[in-house]
Amino acid sequence: MSIEVVITGGAGRIAYALIPLILSGQVFGSTQKVSLRLLDVEFAAAKLVGIAMEIEDSNYELCAGLVATTDPQKAFEGVEVAILLGGYPRLPGMERKDLTTKNAEGMRDQARDLQAYGSSNVKVLVVANPANTNCLVAMKSAPQIPAENFTCLTRLDQERLRFFVASQANKSLASRGLSPSAQPSNVKGVAIWGNHSTTQVPYVDAATVVIDGNEQPATSFFVEEPAALDALVSGVQNRGAEVMKAQQASSGMSAANAIAAHLRDWLKPIDASSSSSDLEIFSMGILSNGNPYGVPDGLCFSFPLRRVPATGGFEIVAGLPISAKMQAQLDATVEELMGEIVDAATIVPSLVSKL
Ligand SMILES: NC(=O)c1ccc[n+]([C@@H]2O[C@H](COP(=O)([O-])OP(=O)(O)OC[C@H]3O[C@@H](n4cnc5c(N)ncnc54)[C@H](O)[C@@H]3O)[C@@H](O)[C@H]2O)c1
Repeated sequence: MSIEVVITGGAGRIAYALIPLILSGQVFGSTQKVSLRLLDVEFAAAKLVGIAMEIEDSNYELCAGLVATTDPQKAFEGVEVAILLGGYPRLPGMERKDLTTKNAEGMRDQARDLQAYGSSNVKVLVVANPANTNCLVAMKSAPQIPAENFTCLTRLDQERLRFFVASQANKSLASRGLSPSAQPSNVKGVAIWGNHSTTQVPYVDAATVVIDGNEQPATSFFVEEPAALDALVSGVQNRGAEVMKAQQASSGMSAANAIAAHLRDWLKPIDASSSSSDLEIFSMGILSNGNPYGVPDGLCFSFPLRRVPATGGFEIVAGLPISAKMQAQLDATVEELMGEIVDAATIVPSLVSKL
């Protein structure tokens, strides 16, 4: 059986890097066939045709079907996984508020169509910015789809943090005359809290780095250089802008990789007998209702999460230490999200019903 997957914004930059990952088995498994739909707006119709030709010419063995269309019904019919990249970039001189309302309108329409034509249990990953608020817009615009099926992408920020922590560990090891052998894949327990924006809170307090088989606290690599921790946080928060400045386009390849990791960690089948403590922490934006950290209900907020083997679902990792400084950062990201919601509520009024 193939899995039905739609990518909206299918003619865009991220989609171009994501399609090969999906069709070569790096997202849903090396033997899982995928029936792929690409949706974009009329303006991008010709580009969609070209991308469809490239997919045909790639002869992916796992490609069980391909629809590239500007018709939402054809794109969403029966889909089980929806990756919503469809949105517009912020143009020079455009206020953030204007971007929020413009993209809220497009997201509302995509979600309504998804609810009308997709599987009633479709899993939704919102990537288009502002990702957290767009995710809430999608959730509120498709109330028949379970709210827990909606997530937004903060995994790219988590991967950036992982890279930065490994780099600092290597710098610290080298300064002590030791071999700089830390790899990003050996960094465990880093997480992103809050909004996918510059107010996000990159979290290393509970993280570890495995060096030569020994797990060491990530914070131990900042002891000789405490200012490096603040620099790292700011570096992660501003990495997207730095990429944009350097290549005059936002992150494409790394966003696609992060989407692949997000979907794998969220949806891959897990063995019910796995020990919860063996499972890695990952970050996604989810509905904040009932969280154990006092974040107000009604937000799409990124938390440290872990899969729950017994149910196959996931939970927020509880009991992590929160310093007073971090609490202030969490308050700031909450405030920003609340402001975005007020702006988006001009398009989707039900957004403010529970605030
Ligand atoms: N959350 C994250 O970590 C993260 C990271 C990188 C980029 N992004 C965001 O992801 C989105 C996609 O990025 P990109 O680089 O691929 O952008 P892009 O501009 O290259 O592509 C976006 C595509 O969406 C299409 N589109 C616009 N409105 C649509 C709608 N209503 N339905 C279907 N298609 C629609 C456009 O025609 C375009 O082809 C952007 O909003 C970007 O800001 C988020």
